[in-house]
Amino acid sequence: MSNRLPRHVAIIMDGNGRWAKQRQLPRVAGHKAGVEKVRALVERCATLGIECLTLFAFSSENWRRPAAEVRLLIDLFVVALNEETRQLHAREVKLTVIGDRSVFPQKLQNAIADAEHLTGDNRGLHLTLAANYGGRWDITQAARALAQEACVGKLDPAAITAEMLDERMSLAGLPEPDLFIRAGGEQRISNYLLWQLAYTELHFTDCLWPDFDVAQFEMALAHYAGRQRRFGMTAEQLQDSPGRRHQHLGRE
Ligand code: IPE
Ligand code: IPE
Ligand code: MG
Repeated sequence: MSNRLPRHVAIIMDGNGRWAKQRQLPRVAGHKAGVEKVRALVERCATLGIECLTLFAFSSENWRRPAAEVRLLIDLFVVALNEETRQLHAREVKLTVIGDRSVFPQKLQNAIADAEHLTGDNRGLHLTLAANYGGRWDITQAARALAQEACVGKLDPAAITAEMLDERMSLAGLPEPDLFIRAGGEQRISNYLLWQLAYTELHFTDCLWPDFDVAQFEMALAHYAGRQRRFGMTAEQLQDSPGRRHQHLGRE
């Protein structure tokens, strides 16, 4: 499998609420069980040599949930960051958070800043947590940045390219996600990485996130290893030059 290992895996961790409901537990118990699963996943990715893991922790639409659940999710996020960051640092993991963090309570903004600061120079797995993140927000903020530069005369609107937008998106500079996994049975993107998933292989599983273990992850990796990624080309073209690498948006 190692010859077809994804460089970047992006995951929607869904199904915590249903997992808890099945057990007559409060939804927050599902979220807590979900956090537990992240630890083993990070460990596995680091061991395998996967370069980037990007996890959807809280969407820009999740604010629509009952206020008490939102509060609990935020508190859980703070606790998880404070408890796990040292271990992540010891494992050489570099942690980054994407999304509009400016609306989070100060204690969460501080926990994020501390974790990013501590792990910023690490060269191991690049773990990105998407929090108050939405794919439309991401494209909008990148478009706004370009518009501002055009307004002050720093760039010509007619010269704007996809690469220039890409450079202003979250995840700029990282390889594009190779494998997307959604746990929890739904087959939708839910406003996750809309721009970045253009050529990502999609894997949907009914497994609820708190049940998503290393064996489930290996199944997704095996599924990925069996796909032929054509990027618009023909199968014959790829057979003629199997080593042909996908160059997209100027990223490596
Ligand atoms: C995913 O699980 C976690 C977050 C969205 C924060 P859900 O809470 O959406 O679980 P279900 O979909 O209700 O089962
Ligand atoms: C997506 O799950 C967001 C996260 C897992 C953080 P949702 O549960 O919010 O997605 P929908 O509402 O079912 O589309
Ligand atoms: Mg859900």
